Amino acid sequence: MKTGLLGVAALLLAVGVNGQQQPVAYSHKTHVAQGLQCGSCHKNPEPGELMGFPAESLCMGCHRAVKTDSAEIQKLAAAAKEKKPVPWVRVYHLPGYVYFSHRVHGEGGVTCERCHGAVRERDVLTREVEHNMKSCMACHAEMKAPNECGSCHEER
Ligand code: HEC
Ligand code: HEC
Ligand code: HEC
Ligand code: HEC
Ligand code: HEC
Repeated sequence: MKTGLLGVAALLLAVGVNGQQQPVAYSHKTHVAQGLQCGSCHKNPEPGELMGFPAESLCMGCHRAVKTDSAEIQKLAAAAKEKKPVPWVRVYHLPGYVYFSHRVHGEGGVTCERCHGAVRERDVLTREVEHNMKSCMACHAEMKAPNECGSCHEER
């Protein structure tokens, strides 16, 4: 009982400090250090709204050979084999009634880091940059981007 409670406390602490537990213990820090670019994995397909997540087959391009004895890589390999995407837990999420496009912001000169923090230094991602109507509008005012209600809320 005592150890059980300690275990729960340790788990809460780990989640509190490290952010949301992901189904596979993927680290951005490790992989960016391998020379991979953000765009190697996050493709921004037409019409440019989403960055999306990489296909498991892309991961397996390396992991068919790298760290094959790791339990985490075995989970990844099983997902790739069954063609079932790893159910990554979303870190950033806007309500459906907000229009947002990654491409517009990339073309507007806003970096990934400005909106997502020091991803390349993180083992586990947390929502280290808060996004809400106030923060969206503050940057739009600063960068002279459109701030009419319909820019972010109009039906498209
Ligand atoms: C090797 C592939 C790979 C590379 C390279 C990569 N990512 Fe990722 N990214 C992932 C995977 C897998 C996830 C889901 C797991 C997670 O959240 O850590 C993810 C999640 C994210 C998320 C969280 C999305 C959400 O809302 O759930 C952000 C933000 C992100 N990546 C930004 C970046 C940036 C910025 C770079 C470049 C510095 C980068 N990524 C490079 C594979 C990659
Ligand atoms: C202007 C701020 C901003 C910039 C710049 C930005 N993001 Fe995002 N990103 C967001 C927001 C907000 C979400 C949540 C979107 C949603 O829920 O619709 C998000 C979601 C994501 C996701 C989850 C999947 C998706 O497409 O919703 C990934 C992966 C991601 N961003 C990666 C990146 C990468 C890589 C870059 C740089 C190329 C980048 N982001 C630049 C704000 C930004
Ligand atoms: C360019 C090759 C490459 C790609 C692509 C790649 N990885 Fe890796 N990955 C590595 C290398 C190399 C290591 C070991 C790094 C180390 O331990 O120093 C590693 C380590 C890992 C580990 C830690 C394994 C352990 O138990 O130590 C996980 C989990 C992982 N990768 C998941 C992924 C996922 C998920 C993807 C796709 C989103 C991916 N990798 C794509 C090269 C790659
Ligand atoms: C760090 C600064 C920054 C943040 C944060 C930011 N934006 Fe932007 N946004 C821009 C810039 C710069 C543009 C491009 C303006 C241009 O094309 O001249 C833009 C353009 C847009 C556009 C296109 C407007 C149009 O009519 O052309 C939409 C929609 C938008 N942003 C929504 C959002 C939402 C929603 C959020 C919050 C989740 C957000 N933005 C956060 C800087 C930002
Ligand atoms: C630059 C983007 C942007 C602009 C411009 C914008 N909003 Fe929003 N709005 C958001 C985002 C993101 C959310 C969801 C997150 C939140 O609740 O802060 C939101 C949420 C809302 C909500 C629901 C949440 C609540 O507070 O009840 C309403 C209502 C709303 N906006 C109305 C407006 C009106 C009216 C205007 C014009 C005066 C406007 N918005 C302009 C981005 C924007």
